[in-house]
Amino acid sequence: MLNKEITREDPLKICFVCLGNICRSPTAQGIFQHLVNEKGLQPYFEIDSAGTASYHTGEPANARSQEVANRHGVTLQSTARQFEQFDLEYYDLILAMDRENLRNIEQMDSGNRFSDKVAMLRDFDPDVEGPAEVPDPYHGGMQGFERVFDIVQRSCENLLDKLQNNIRE
Ligand code: 4NP
Repeated sequence: MLNKEITREDPLKICFVCLGNICRSPTAQGIFQHLVNEKGLQPYFEIDSAGTASYHTGEPANARSQEVANRHGVTLQSTARQFEQFDLEYYDLILAMDRENLRNIEQMDSGNRFSDKVAMLRDFDPDVEGPAEVPDPYHGGMQGFERVFDIVQRSCENLLDKLQNNIRE
Protein backbone atom coordinates (compact mmCIF):
# COMPACT_ATOMS: atom_id res chain seq x y z
CA MET A 1 0.00 0.00 0.00
CA LEU A 2 2.92 2.31 0.60
CA ASN A 3 4.17 1.78 -2.94
CA LYS A 4 0.94 2.79 -4.68
CA GLU A 5 1.53 5.53 -7.23
CA ILE A 6 -0.33 8.71 -6.29
CA THR A 7 -1.72 10.96 -9.02
CA ARG A 8 -4.38 13.66 -9.29
CA GLU A 9 -6.62 11.12 -11.04
CA ASP A 10 -5.98 8.49 -8.38
CA PRO A 11 -5.29 10.22 -5.06
CA LEU A 12 -4.28 8.22 -1.99
CA LYS A 13 -7.34 7.68 0.19
CA ILE A 14 -6.37 7.52 3.85
CA CYS A 15 -8.53 6.88 6.92
CA PHE A 16 -7.31 7.31 10.51
CA VAL A 17 -9.13 5.10 13.02
CA CYS A 18 -9.51 5.22 16.82
CA LEU A 19 -12.25 4.12 19.22
CA GLY A 20 -14.63 7.07 19.54
CA ASN A 21 -13.56 9.19 16.54
CA ILE A 22 -13.57 12.30 18.74
CA CYS A 23 -9.97 12.57 20.04
CA ARG A 24 -7.09 10.74 18.37
CA SER A 25 -8.24 10.07 14.81
CA PRO A 26 -9.74 13.57 14.33
CA THR A 27 -6.37 14.93 15.53
CA ALA A 28 -4.56 12.75 12.99
CA GLN A 29 -6.98 13.75 10.21
CA GLY A 30 -6.55 17.45 11.06
CA ILE A 31 -2.76 17.32 11.32
CA PHE A 32 -2.31 15.29 8.13
CA GLN A 33 -4.66 17.63 6.23
CA HIS A 34 -2.77 20.63 7.62
CA LEU A 35 0.58 19.21 6.45
CA VAL A 36 -0.86 18.38 3.02
CA ASN A 37 -2.28 21.90 2.71
CA GLU A 38 1.04 23.48 3.72
CA LYS A 39 2.76 21.60 0.89
CA GLY A 40 0.00 22.33 -1.65
CA LEU A 41 -0.61 18.60 -2.11
CA GLN A 42 -4.41 18.65 -1.68
CA PRO A 43 -5.15 17.03 -5.10
CA TYR A 44 -3.14 13.94 -4.14
CA PHE A 45 -4.85 12.97 -0.90
CA GLU A 46 -8.35 12.21 0.35
CA ILE A 47 -8.27 12.23 4.15
CA ASP A 48 -10.87 11.00 6.64
CA SER A 49 -11.23 9.43 10.07
CA ALA A 50 -13.61 7.02 11.82
CA GLY A 51 -14.08 5.15 15.11
CA THR A 52 -14.52 1.46 15.76
CA ALA A 53 -17.31 2.31 18.25
CA SER A 54 -20.49 4.26 17.57
CA TYR A 55 -21.05 6.02 20.94
CA HIS A 56 -20.12 9.46 19.66
CA THR A 57 -21.58 9.34 16.15
CA GLY A 58 -22.39 12.83 14.86
CA GLU A 59 -20.20 14.67 17.36
CA PRO A 60 -17.42 17.11 16.49
CA ALA A 61 -13.92 16.53 17.88
CA ASN A 62 -13.61 16.67 21.67
CA ALA A 63 -13.20 20.23 22.99
CA ARG A 64 -9.81 19.41 24.55
CA SER A 65 -8.50 17.93 21.28
CA GLN A 66 -9.70 21.05 19.48
CA GLU A 67 -8.08 23.36 22.02
CA VAL A 68 -4.67 21.69 21.71
CA ALA A 69 -4.89 21.52 17.91
CA ASN A 70 -5.94 25.16 17.60
CA ARG A 71 -3.04 26.23 19.78
CA HIS A 72 -0.80 24.58 17.18
CA GLY A 73 -2.61 26.24 14.28
CA VAL A 74 -4.53 23.10 13.29
CA THR A 75 -8.32 22.99 12.83
CA LEU A 76 -10.22 19.76 13.50
CA GLN A 77 -13.19 19.33 11.19
CA SER A 78 -14.43 15.81 11.80
CA THR A 79 -17.94 14.54 12.45
CA ALA A 80 -17.73 11.26 14.35
CA ARG A 81 -18.82 8.13 12.52
CA GLN A 82 -18.29 4.41 12.90
CA PHE A 83 -15.76 2.60 10.71
CA GLU A 84 -17.61 0.18 8.43
CA GLN A 85 -16.99 -2.63 5.97
CA PHE A 86 -17.22 -0.20 3.07
CA ASP A 87 -14.24 1.75 4.47
CA LEU A 88 -12.09 -1.38 4.43
CA GLU A 89 -12.64 -1.70 0.71
CA TYR A 90 -12.62 2.01 -0.13
CA TYR A 91 -9.50 3.37 1.58
CA ASP A 92 -5.96 2.68 0.37
CA LEU A 93 -4.39 3.17 3.78
CA ILE A 94 -6.12 2.57 7.12
CA LEU A 95 -4.14 3.63 10.17
CA ALA A 96 -5.19 2.50 13.64
CA MET A 97 -4.25 4.42 16.76
CA ASP A 98 -3.91 1.42 19.09
CA ARG A 99 -3.85 -2.37 19.07
CA GLU A 100 -7.50 -2.67 20.03
CA ASN A 101 -8.53 -0.53 17.07
CA LEU A 102 -6.26 -2.62 14.85
CA ARG A 103 -7.78 -5.86 16.13
CA ASN A 104 -11.29 -4.57 15.55
CA ILE A 105 -10.46 -3.58 11.98
CA GLU A 106 -8.77 -6.94 11.34
CA GLN A 107 -11.84 -8.77 12.63
CA MET A 108 -13.92 -7.05 9.95
CA ASP A 109 -11.48 -8.33 7.32
CA SER A 110 -12.57 -11.96 7.54
CA GLY A 111 -10.99 -13.06 4.26
CA ASN A 112 -7.78 -11.23 5.16
CA ARG A 113 -8.05 -9.41 1.83
CA PHE A 114 -7.05 -5.98 3.06
CA SER A 115 -4.24 -6.69 5.52
CA ASP A 116 -1.61 -4.92 3.41
CA LYS A 117 -3.39 -1.58 3.74
CA VAL A 118 -4.01 -1.71 7.49
CA ALA A 119 -1.28 -0.57 9.90
CA MET A 120 -0.67 1.38 13.10
CA LEU A 121 -0.01 5.11 12.81
CA ARG A 122 2.97 4.79 15.16
CA ASP A 123 4.65 2.42 12.72
CA PHE A 124 5.59 5.78 11.22
CA ASP A 125 6.75 7.39 14.47
CA PRO A 126 10.45 8.10 13.93
CA ASP A 127 11.01 8.17 17.71
CA VAL A 128 10.03 4.55 18.40
CA GLU A 129 11.18 1.17 17.24
CA GLY A 130 8.67 -1.64 17.03
CA PRO A 131 4.96 -1.50 17.75
CA ALA A 132 3.63 1.46 19.71
CA GLU A 133 0.21 2.97 20.35
CA VAL A 134 -1.26 6.45 20.41
CA PRO A 135 -2.55 6.41 24.02
CA ASP A 136 -6.25 7.05 24.64
CA PRO A 137 -6.45 10.52 26.29
CA TYR A 138 -10.21 10.57 26.91
CA HIS A 139 -10.31 9.85 30.65
CA GLY A 140 -7.14 11.76 31.56
CA GLY A 141 -5.98 15.38 31.78
CA MET A 142 -4.86 17.99 29.28
CA GLN A 143 -1.30 16.62 29.29
CA GLY A 144 -2.52 13.46 27.61
CA PHE A 145 -4.05 15.49 24.80
CA GLU A 146 -0.78 17.40 24.33
CA ARG A 147 1.09 14.10 24.20
CA VAL A 148 -1.31 12.72 21.59
CA PHE A 149 -0.80 15.84 19.48
CA ASP A 150 3.01 15.52 19.58
CA ILE A 151 3.02 11.79 18.78
CA VAL A 152 0.53 12.19 15.95
CA GLN A 153 2.32 15.22 14.51
CA ARG A 154 5.72 13.57 14.19
CA SER A 155 4.17 10.34 12.88
CA CYS A 156 2.15 12.22 10.26
CA GLU A 157 5.17 14.28 9.19
CA ASN A 158 7.18 11.12 8.62
CA LEU A 159 4.26 9.39 6.90
CA LEU A 160 3.76 12.28 4.48
CA ASP A 161 7.51 12.44 3.74
CA LYS A 162 7.38 8.77 2.72
CA LEU A 163 4.16 9.08 0.71
CA GLN A 164 5.39 12.14 -1.15
CA ASN A 165 7.92 9.90 -2.92
CA ASN A 166 4.99 8.10 -4.60
CA ILE A 167 3.48 11.21 -6.17
CA ARG A 168 3.61 11.28 -9.99
CA GLU A 169 2.76 14.54 -11.72
P1 4NP B 1 -10.77 8.44 20.86
O1 4NP B 1 -11.02 8.65 22.43
O2 4NP B 1 -10.89 6.95 20.60
O3 4NP B 1 -9.37 8.91 20.68
O4 4NP B 1 -11.80 9.25 20.14
C1 4NP B 1 -12.12 8.14 23.11
C2 4NP B 1 -13.33 8.81 23.06
C3 4NP B 1 -14.41 8.33 23.77
C4 4NP B 1 -14.28 7.18 24.52
C5 4NP B 1 -13.07 6.51 24.55
C6 4NP B 1 -11.99 6.99 23.85
N1 4NP B 1 -15.39 6.70 25.27
O5 4NP B 1 -15.21 5.71 26.02
O6 4NP B 1 -16.49 7.25 25.18
